[in-house]
Amino acid sequence: MKNIVTERLVLRPWEDTDVDFVFDLYSRWVVQRFIGAEPRVMESRSEAVERVARFRAIDHPVHGIWAVTSKADGRPVGTLLLKPIPASGQEPLQPSGDVEIGWHFHPDHWGGGFASEAAAAVLGHAFAGGLDHVVAVTNPANEASQSVCRRIGMKHLGPSKKYYNATCELFVAKNPASLR
Ligand SMILES: CC(C)(COP(=O)(O)OP(=O)(O)OC[C@H]1O[C@@H](n2cnc3c(N)ncnc32)[C@H](O)[C@@H]1OP(=O)(O)O)[C@@H](O)C(=O)NCCC(=O)NCCS
Repeated sequence: MKNIVTERLVLRPWEDTDVDFVFDLYSRWVVQRFIGAEPRVMESRSEAVERVARFRAIDHPVHGIWAVTSKADGRPVGTLLLKPIPASGQEPLQPSGDVEIGWHFHPDHWGGGFASEAAAAVLGHAFAGGLDHVVAVTNPANEASQSVCRRIGMKHLGPSKKYYNATCELFVAKNPASLR
């Protein structure tokens, strides 16, 4: 997985030294409250160790789960995901064939445009890598995340039950190259 560099951020693979950050991030209810059908916070550091291993396990030329770090001090500020999204259906959920983009940032770094800056760069990476379209789904109450979708130019398609056995607000971005 290659690093993605923006004006203020470096998106890089996760490292063992990021475990404490991952635990701090995902043990917070404000971060977890809109994630998944039944949100729960991370309860132990060992879960964070497993999460970092899962983040690293994606081995794909375009998909990835990046640690977003600040160029200013090199420290992690959040997570950016580009990965297959499961379709609604019987458990275990099967791939839908679509790819989703997602973002989880530490509250210390909300409100400065980091999420939108990182997400725009990953969307550009997705299209440069040849993906035809990318979707994003948010909890209907997650207005901050819906704002990120809009800021990076995604189109709001309204509520959908297509993915994750949940009703989500669905956003899509088409590859400009495939629109021509
Ligand atoms: C969703 C989430 C990442 C959004 O974070 P965010 O900080 O609101 O988003 P941004 O980093 O894009 O910041 C946007 C704000 O920064 C401002 N901003 C944008 N660019 C900026 C810049 N270059 N300099 C300074 N400020 C800037 C914007 O005006 C905006 O403020 P506003 O909302 O008051 O208009 C964050 O709420 C989060 O991590 N939530 C928990 C996890 C989650 O729910 N993830 C999504 C699951 S679907």
